[in-house]
Amino acid sequence: MKRIGVLTGGGDAPGLNAVIRAAVKTAIIEFNCEVFGIKNGYDGFLEENGIIPLGLNEVSGILPRGGTILGSANRGNPYARKVIRDGKEVVIDVSDEIVKGIKKQKLDALLVLGGDGTLHIAHELAQKGVPVIGVPKTIDNDIGGTEVTFGFDTALNIATEALDRLHTTAESHHRAMVIELMGRDAGFIALHAGVAGGADVILIPEIPFNFESIMKKIKSRAEAGRKFSTLAVSEGAKLQGGEQVYSRKGDEVYVPRLGGIGQMVSEYIERQGFESRVTVLGHLQRGGTPTSFDRLLATRYGSAAVRLAARGGFDRMVSLQCGYITDISLEECTSKPKRVNPNDDAVVTARNIGICFGDE
Ligand code: F6P
Repeated sequence: MKRIGVLTGGGDAPGLNAVIRAAVKTAIIEFNCEVFGIKNGYDGFLEENGIIPLGLNEVSGILPRGGTILGSANRGNPYARKVIRDGKEVVIDVSDEIVKGIKKQKLDALLVLGGDGTLHIAHELAQKGVPVIGVPKTIDNDIGGTEVTFGFDTALNIATEALDRLHTTAESHHRAMVIELMGRDAGFIALHAGVAGGADVILIPEIPFNFESIMKKIKSRAEAGRKFSTLAVSEGAKLQGGEQVYSRKGDEVYVPRLGGIGQMVSEYIERQGFESRVTVLGHLQRGGTPTSFDRLLATRYGSAAVRLAARGGFDRMVSLQCGYITDISLEECTSKPKRVNPNDDAVVTARNIGICFGDE
């Protein structure tokens, strides 16, 4: 193994730079390799100056830094790229050009730091002979085959702090404070932050809700003298028999953008005579410095990814199982995304301590 490439794809997550740093250090110190950073996801292979050498100097000081020094691309799917041809917008497949670009670099391994979409593309590129290794990144924690993705813990801490802050103002003003949290189709952030932040109601995509159940909870608290409530609402939560709420439709290139369920819940509560406000925490959950848990996990993943590459374990992803770093085939982990199991201990515990999921 002589030359390793690293790229970061999809939405950023705290810990990306920690993975890059650990991979570069391990590759240089332990394996005496050269490392190259690919800018802006897979796009870097097509861009002029899209590939930069990464040495120890380039990764110095980036451990606590949020974002990614390499840049990322949410629409960087080489199999569906929007371009203008003859004045018209068309969607084309540029995967063969990407493969050509990768081969031209003579990379012995390509480390792909990404979520389900980016890892799925990595698996497809592996079928075209690209020696890929996946590293599971996302604040949503929704990648199959690993207990936890880096970025999740940081997002969770930010969401928990936000709930703590909403709690005090909710109590002062006797209001129902709704916070809409990220997570896409997985409710891990809302569930874990909701429990850690003492929410009274948690709404997640895996447990469709009804308004009557939420109002029963808010009213019973008010009758017992607690005239305020906090509600942790996952952006992907939906009404029983209803649909998820989107702020923008998707197409072949863009995934649909979730957003608006928090507002909908808050407006319903107000119509029932209870004052309510909504906060959409948004990208604050993704920005800024990673927690020590995420820095450690990201460092372990980055280093393990290089060791896996040295063993020739391509088309696989490093993962955490029972607290140990191991690896799993990209096909397996991308074929079954992880979701909250409604019978899981965290859900049962939440119910046992009186948290309402809007389904009772
Ligand atoms: O997958 C991470 C995530 O932050 C989701 O929780 C959220 O739905 C989405 O990305 C937002 O994407 P964008 O940055 O494109 O708005």
